[in-house]
Amino acid sequence: MKFLIVIFLFSIFIGCSTKTIKSTNTKFPSGQKLYLSKCSGCHRLYDRLEYTPHQWDSIMVVMRVKAKTNPEQEIEILNYLKERN
Ligand code: HEC
Repeated sequence: MKFLIVIFLFSIFIGCSTKTIKSTNTKFPSGQKLYLSKCSGCHRLYDRLEYTPHQWDSIMVVMRVKAKTNPEQEIEILNYLKERN
């Protein structure tokens, strides 16, 4: 019985630690792709709904330096992050 509980807890842990983002419907697939590739290296992928569009603006000011994105890529990533559907 203890064994089953350990398996159960372990599967919850695995389920939570995989990189998933909830909001996948997007009009900006290239921005989403850039977000997935440029922004997943150092931390989990934050869901775009975790921050307001205004917050994303100020987060990108800091993160664009870390992610070494160019201005075109920043616009695409922000289009994706600020989209609400
Ligand atoms: C080189 C590593 C690195 C890359 C690449 C990177 N980040 Fe970060 N990010 C960090 C670190 C370190 C923190 C924690 C900063 C802190 O709050 O002290 C952070 C924090 C964040 C936070 C939380 C901010 C908060 O105040 O809660 C968000 C959101 C975020 N990053 C988004 C992004 C996005 C979007 C990209 C891609 C453009 C990105 N990150 C790329 C290192 C990185």
